Amino acid sequence: MELFIAIMQLLVVLLILFWQVSLLIATILGSPIVYANPKAVDDCLALAGAKEKDLVVDLGCGNARTLIRMARKFGIRGIGVDRSIYCYLRARMNVWLSGQSKNIKIIYGDFKKSEQYLKKADIVYLYLLDQTLALIEPWLFQSIGEETKVVSLCFRFKDHKPIADMPTRTLGQETKALLYIK
Ligand SMILES: C[S@@+](CC[C@H](N)C(=O)[O-])C[C@H]1O[C@@H](n2cnc3c(N)ncnc32)[C@H](O)[C@@H]1O
Repeated sequence: MELFIAIMQLLVVLLILFWQVSLLIATILGSPIVYANPKAVDDCLALAGAKEKDLVVDLGCGNARTLIRMARKFGIRGIGVDRSIYCYLRARMNVWLSGQSKNIKIIYGDFKKSEQYLKKADIVYLYLLDQTLALIEPWLFQSIGEETKVVSLCFRFKDHKPIADMPTRTLGQETKALLYIK
């Protein structure tokens, strides 16, 4: 019995360590793991004119709570990609627990792993820092389809200008959802 308790304690400590190290690595890499306010997520999809069955790609989906919200509220189909193994595993578990496995697919790895879906995506949703947007800007706008809408929460691209925006709030601050096209 004592051995069992010791093993369980060790497992809990290892899990907490794994979680904290993942958050630390993501922050060091310049991509902190924070989540959009649900209302801001709704505003982003409203700005992009999301319809039922639309394909939404979330580049940097974290634990997939944002995609799950979109699927529940707007009836979209989602693809999420994240390079944090912790986020990927949480996302897979959350999608399964939410009963949205038929609608949401999660990919492990860099954004470019989702490239094959971008041409047919109706909406690409982003909640990333300015410097990350600048890094992916040429690749993203080359990879999306003619009809794909790109919606970014808070942060702006360097060369492309938004065609529309909507005031919203996330992390307790006034901000904007910004809409881009090719
Ligand atoms: C601010 S969180 C956004 C979470 C979610 N999309 C939302 O809106 O609530 C950014 C996520 O992007 C992921 N990320 C950053 N750079 C990435 C890259 N190059 N490839 C894949 N994922 C990346 C991070 O691991 C993090 O989970």
